[in-house]
Amino acid sequence: PLVSTGELVGQARSAGRAVAAFNVISLEHAEAIAAGAEAAGAPAILQVSENAVRFHGGRLAPIAAAAAAVARASSAPLALHLDHVVSVELLHAAHPEGFSSVMFDASKLSYEENVAATADAVRWGHERGIWVEAELGKVGGKEGEAPLDAHAPGVRTDPVEAAAYVADTGVDALAVAVGSSHAMTERTAALDHELIGRLRDAVPVPLVLHGSSGVPDEEIRAAVTAGMVKINVGTALNTAFTGAVREVLTGQPALVDPRKYVGPGRDAMAETVARFLAVVHAD
Ligand code: G3H
Ligand code: ZN
Repeated sequence: PLVSTGELVGQARSAGRAVAAFNVISLEHAEAIAAGAEAAGAPAILQVSENAVRFHGGRLAPIAAAAAAVARASSAPLALHLDHVVSVELLHAAHPEGFSSVMFDASKLSYEENVAATADAVRWGHERGIWVEAELGKVGGKEGEAPLDAHAPGVRTDPVEAAAYVADTGVDALAVAVGSSHAMTERTAALDHELIGRLRDAVPVPLVLHGSSGVPDEEIRAAVTAGMVKINVGTALNTAFTGAVREVLTGQPALVDPRKYVGPGRDAMAETVARFLAVVHAD
């Protein structure tokens, strides 16, 4: 069934565990996330990013309707989230599509501008019952961005600033920079677990880990133990999908029916989802 993000995050937090959120680019991603969640017996969040909306010609409705329909038809509890929203216009398009939550990404702005823009987004969301996540600090590796040094000052989230930010914006969850980076194809990120613990103690809302594709299983487990409640995974699905498609096409150069290679790609994503859920959802 289609459930709300706030519900899944709240349940995970009170059970002392986390909920995984997976990026949806195509219908097959949504189907794979549902299949993986059903296989793992765990809930999950389907998230559509602003980049994915841009890929679909700037149209949110078709991919949102597909993801929502897959969620409704699934036996696993699945929520729909709009991810890394920079455009206020896209933010305002979220509600009618059935999104119960949004990540408003003003992390490129100065601290003061980030607070002002995010507080507006939260006000807008809360009037409509939408749960709002925002980012403080800089999780690198976003599309079209120069790589950044995850250890440079001002990159990692500062606990004192984080507490003020949450109080000033009213966000429901906080994405923090603690050593992970987006779009990693190798799982080599090392997280600062001491910082995660300090952030958990400093802010009253659940913490979100972005760029989890590059984080090893043991590091994800430790991050959940230290206080991460939402674990975002995108690239790992694409690595699995593309690897499976490449293998089929390389072995069968005369193949033309997309179902014969997209199908194995979707199966590979479902397996990846189930594997991450086994790590994230474990007690
Ligand atoms: O918001 C999305 C996630 O942070 C995905 O990051 O593609 O590096 O796993 P990833
Ligand atoms: Zn992210």
